Amino acid sequence: MSGHTLMFERHATTGRVLRLTFDGKAIDAREGDSVAAALLAAGVSVFRETSISGAPRAPYCMMGACFDCLVEIDGIANRQACMVAAVDGMSVRTQHGARRLG
Ligand code: FES
Repeated sequence: MSGHTLMFERHATTGRVLRLTFDGKAIDAREGDSVAAALLAAGVSVFRETSISGAPRAPYCMMGACFDCLVEIDGIANRQACMVAAVDGMSVRTQHGARRLG
């Protein structure tokens, strides 16, 4: 989480409130949010770190093209946060480096 000014703004605030966790911390989302939208609305600015340099990455395209929004969702790595609907009780974690096999 960070104090950076966000380039995204939530337009609808009428959906049912959902509760997710991000790296173990509770965040509120709205029904209809993607995971990326929920995290951005909660002030999360780093979703993953690159596998080579460890550089921080955050959503860029919000439409499934750039893969900068990869996170771990409910124990499954390499999920595109912009393409997954937020679900009550979902556990989301920062993705560190490359996905491990096995
Ligand atoms: S933000 Fe680009 S793929 Fe998700």
